[in-house]
Amino acid sequence: MKSHPLDALAQQLVAPDRGILAADESSGTIEKRFQAVGIPSTEITRRDYRELLFSSPGIDQYLSGVILYEETLSQIGRDGRRLVQILEDRGILPGIKVDRGIKPLPGQPDESVTEGLDGLHERLAAYRGQGARFTKWRAVIRVDEERPSSLALKANAEVLARYAGLVQEAGMVPIVEPEVLMEGSHDLDRCETVTTAALDQLFMALKAYRVRLEALVLKPNMVVSGTQCNRPASVETVAQATVQTLARTVPAAVPGIAFLSGGQSPEQATQHLDAINRLATRLPWRLTFSFSRALQEPPLRMWAGKEDRIRQAQELFSQRVRLNSLASMGRYHPDLEKVA
Ligand code: 13P
Repeated sequence: MKSHPLDALAQQLVAPDRGILAADESSGTIEKRFQAVGIPSTEITRRDYRELLFSSPGIDQYLSGVILYEETLSQIGRDGRRLVQILEDRGILPGIKVDRGIKPLPGQPDESVTEGLDGLHERLAAYRGQGARFTKWRAVIRVDEERPSSLALKANAEVLARYAGLVQEAGMVPIVEPEVLMEGSHDLDRCETVTTAALDQLFMALKAYRVRLEALVLKPNMVVSGTQCNRPASVETVAQATVQTLARTVPAAVPGIAFLSGGQSPEQATQHLDAINRLATRLPWRLTFSFSRALQEPPLRMWAGKEDRIRQAQELFSQRVRLNSLASMGRYHPDLEKVA
């Protein structure tokens, strides 16, 4: 079989015992997260926070890549190096979120389509020039009794595929993220049905646009019950449903799947990832993490903008990264949390 130079890069992103940190919160999103712990959101506080994360001890053993927001790509840290350089010096690949956020889908109340294709070709060349090796685009699928509409699934799959094709042509690996939201009172079966439909549509569109499956990373939600569901599923059920859904929808050519955490608590996300990997011993792709909140909540709360808490915040962050690396190999145990 013919290989392509990007295949190796995609494999590097999902290498055994490695995962990805999503640190690509838009300025609006990070402002909300900062507000919750009493930090003003300025260019400087955002930079200091990201520098804290990227220079945490030991993370280079467990992280293959970090997804950045556009602002971070050009920021210079306190130590005089570009933040991108800090990552590169540690052998961690810098990536970039390239979508421009979700916008209302015409004619479909409360549904969205992700924007950002206009001018993307030119932006990609610039990001590549600034050191980005991979990219991310997030589509959001809302669940309730009437949603998602088939139009929402189709429209989002179509733009994800167009994005992925452009990224590969620009010499980078696309992370393709169709997120079925956890918010809602739906049960696990409903999440499974919707996730299956979203992934079926997505892979149809990726094939139609001749996107190279060997050179992308899929970033899906786990199959979980909604946040307001009155019958929350067990860890074992989540793992079984997630593995079954992926086995039915994701072609074996895809090298790896890196889950989003979607609002699960840090411990819950790690437990689920571990249970999934214990079950998935004979599946063709690597199954790992690309979490934002589930990696960042403990260090952000600890730091809270205080200079004298940097070291402790970094320790909490390194600990979460290490535990998720173990979970990506099915070697995590909840007792390991106590050490922290
Ligand atoms: P969460 O892990 O907080 O869901 O974020 C992942 C992500 O990158 C969303 O686009």
